[in-house]
Order: sequence, then structure tokens, then C-alpha cells
Amino acid sequence: MSAPLRLGIAGLGTVGTGVVKIVQKHVDLLAARSGRPIAITAVSARDRMKNRDADLSGYAWETDAMALATRGDVDVYVELIGGESGIARDSIEAALRAGKDVVTANKALLAVHGQELAALAESLGRVIRFEAAVAGGIPVIKTMTESLAGNGINRVMGVMNGTCNYILTRMESAGLPYETVFEEARQLGYLEADPTLDVGGIDASHKLAILSSIAFGTKVDFNGVEIEGIERVSIDDIRRAADMGYKIKLLGVAQMTARGLEQRMSPCLVPADSPLGQLQGGTNMVVVEGDSVGQIVLRGAGAGEGPTASAVMSDIVEVARGVRLPVFGQPASTLRDAQPARTAVPAAYYMRMELQDKPGALAKVAAVLGDSGISIDRMRQYGHADDDRVPVLIVTHKTTPDAIDHAIEALPRTGVLTGEPVELRIEEV
Ligand code: NAP
Ligand code: HSE
Repeated sequence: MSAPLRLGIAGLGTVGTGVVKIVQKHVDLLAARSGRPIAITAVSARDRMKNRDADLSGYAWETDAMALATRGDVDVYVELIGGESGIARDSIEAALRAGKDVVTANKALLAVHGQELAALAESLGRVIRFEAAVAGGIPVIKTMTESLAGNGINRVMGVMNGTCNYILTRMESAGLPYETVFEEARQLGYLEADPTLDVGGIDASHKLAILSSIAFGTKVDFNGVEIEGIERVSIDDIRRAADMGYKIKLLGVAQMTARGLEQRMSPCLVPADSPLGQLQGGTNMVVVEGDSVGQIVLRGAGAGEGPTASAVMSDIVEVARGVRLPVFGQPASTLRDAQPARTAVPAAYYMRMELQDKPGALAKVAAVLGDSGISIDRMRQYGHADDDRVPVLIVTHKTTPDAIDHAIEALPRTGVLTGEPVELRIEEV
């Protein structure tokens, strides 16, 4: 058998500890599948005294990740620290320059600096692999770069933040408001240290930007993602959407159009009986549409020690096998500028508003929609209590985001609304 592949693991938190455990548990299995042993040489984290729930006694310790990244007895630098710059980026660059291959789970770093890192790695003849960076344990990077290599990709979409999906499905099942479930998620430890990364849609957008690059052969363009988080999703909307046969999901969608690359991350309605509509709790789902394969659906755990470490290990085994692929599926020098385009693809929309209960109110709303070029598909007026506010729900025929913006701006001027109207896109899935 060949010489061992020697790992330096930087970051011994949830994911790093999980990787150490798999390497220790599956010594023989990994060697058999890789054609060579896989061995950890050295590890790094900030606090050497912390209890790690893993036996680290056989490994050298580096308090400085830069030192780990450049050690002579490390072949693969496994970056599991996190963060879009700082030590994660510096140590990866140092490792590449020192002749190491790199495995990382760091979606923030790749979404923001992926192009420069890919160019650097490829110019040095090194690989960077990142299966764990998108949708945790789901093998979506390998699927897109390898299994779907013969397809033009029409659209890629999915639920890629488990915390948001937990919050939305829990709001529905328990009938609880957003603020209560957000606090519950915090207590359960589901939220990132900066919760805006989750509920603000940023973490999921990092992942979408990475998938877009692979799907469309463009430079990863996180700044081109139109992002809206789940903060404004109310329990009322979740209930009303359910009445109309829909679920609300934080959905990422990327597609190449004649106008450019559309990437959007926003709360959307999807049919309740679709695979995306049925997705519960912290689970992730990625849907890819290829011109030959049609639609494929990948579903699984998007986070957590075991699933994420499983994805990191798949990359390590591929390096051990000698698999060497361009970082984003084609050489970085051939990736085109993304040319971001605001979403223009028409869709049906859900609109919810409260009207004053007086003659002509509904007619005024219908007139605004008509003036905006929006046709109504379905409408429901709900019964109301003693006050004179009437909840009204409208599902439109397909229309453009510009037409919806026009209507949302004009509706308050009718003088018949009692609050802000809500609109959510209904995505065809
Ligand atoms: P974590 O639990 O916060 O662990 C981070 C680790 O990095 C800690 O061990 C920490 O050391 C170490 N660290 C921080 N600064 C360091 C430095 N300057 N030098 C060396 N080590 C340093 O994070 P995680 O959840 O394992 O996530 C790691 C990466 O995986 C991130 O990029 C994350 O986005 C990604 N990811 C995570 C998940 C998940 O489910 N957790 C899923 C997909 C992707 P101390 O322990 O001493 O503080
Ligand atoms: N905060 C992320 C999530 C972790 O909830 O999906 C995995 O990337």
C-alpha cells in the first residue's frame, strides 16, 4: 500500500472533531477505499486545554494555524475554522503556496474569495475541495461537478439553511410566532454566533453563489445574490399560505437568463405537496435541473457533526485517490464574469392585506392590480371579528417582479388598507 496521506486539521469545533472521530473509527475502511492509509499528523485550535470529546493525544499541536498549514509532514490542510477572511483565508493561501492540497467546509470564504483562491490553487497545481460547504452532508458539489458534467444546467435551487427551515416549519406545526421560535432556535444552539447569517439569508446565499458558479461556469458572485431573509414571515402568512395549498420556504434560486445571471434568496411559496414543500425541520434540499437528466432532487442533513464531517471525509478520500479536478468544475481562468441580473422571470404571487370593511374597498384594490398589469387568479376574503378590518388574500396569475413592486407601492394610496400589504413569490418547483 502507498504512503499515508497526512492531514493537518485546523479547527476542532463541531466539524473538526467530527472529522477526527471518523479518521479514528474507520482506519481500515478509509485505507481500503483510498488505496492508502489516511493519518492525522497535527491539529490546531485556539485553546489547547478545551475538552474536545476526541482523543488528540497522538497528534502534534499547533496553536498557530499558519504553522500547521506549512508543516513539512502535512499533505492536506483541512481548514475547519470558518470566517470569510482572516486566518482561514491566510492559512489556506499559505498551505497552497507550501504545496498542500486543501479541504474546507468554509462557504463564506469560498463565496467571497473563491475565484482568487481557485486561481491560486490551479496556478500552483493544487486542489481545493469543499463538499461540506454547501448543504452539509448532501453530496451536491460532487453531483454537479462530476455526475452532471454532461448537462447544461437550466436552474438550481433549494433550501440550504437548516436553521431557517426549522424556524418556518416549527412556526407552522406549533402555531408560534417568529420571535418565539427564533428564541427557541437560539436555546437549542441552532443559530450561528451572528444569527443574521441564518435568518438574514446570508449563509444560504453563500451556498447558492457557490452552486451558481459550478452550474453556469461563472465566477462566484455572492454580491450578485438578491437576498431577503425570513424575518418578515409571519404566522399569519404561514397559515394563509397553507389554506391556499402552499408552504413558505427560504428558497434560493439561480438561473441564467438572456439578461444575465439571476440569483435570489427569499421566502417563497412552494406547493405543499412538492418535495420542497414537504421538507421538515433542519433538513436541506437541493434541486438541479439539467438539460439531459431533467430534474434531480437531493435531500439530507445540511449541518451537524456527523453529516458535515462525512462530506469533509469524502473530499479527503478523493484527494487520497489522486482525483484532481478544477475547483469549480472547470479551470478558474475559463469562468466568465457573472453579469448579475435582477429577477425578471415572471411568477405567480401571493398577496395578503387587510382592508377597511366598506363598500368599494375591494374594487379599489382590484383597480390597482389591473393598472399594474396584474391579473387575479384566486382571491379569498376571510371572516372578521368586531373590528372593521377584513383580511384578504390574493393569488395572482404570473406577473413580473416590477409589476408587483408597482402594485405594492400604489396600494396604500387607495386609502382602504389598514396596514402594509405583504407579497411573496410563488416558485414553480
Ligand atoms: P466551530 O464549532 O465554531 O469551531 C471552530 C474551530 O476553529 C474551534 O475549534 C476554534 O478553536 C477554531 N479556531 C478559531 N479560530 C482559530 C484560529 N485562529 N486558529 C486555529 N483555530 C481556530 O465551527 P464549526 O461549526 O465546526 O464550523 C467549521 C467550518 O465548517 C465553518 O466554516 C462552518 O461554516 C463550516 N460548516 C459548519 C457546519 C456545521 O454544521 N457546524 C456545516 C457546514 C459547514 P477553539 O475550539 O479553541 O475555540
Ligand atoms: N447555519 C447553517 C444552517 C449551518 O443552519 O444550515 C450549516 O451550514
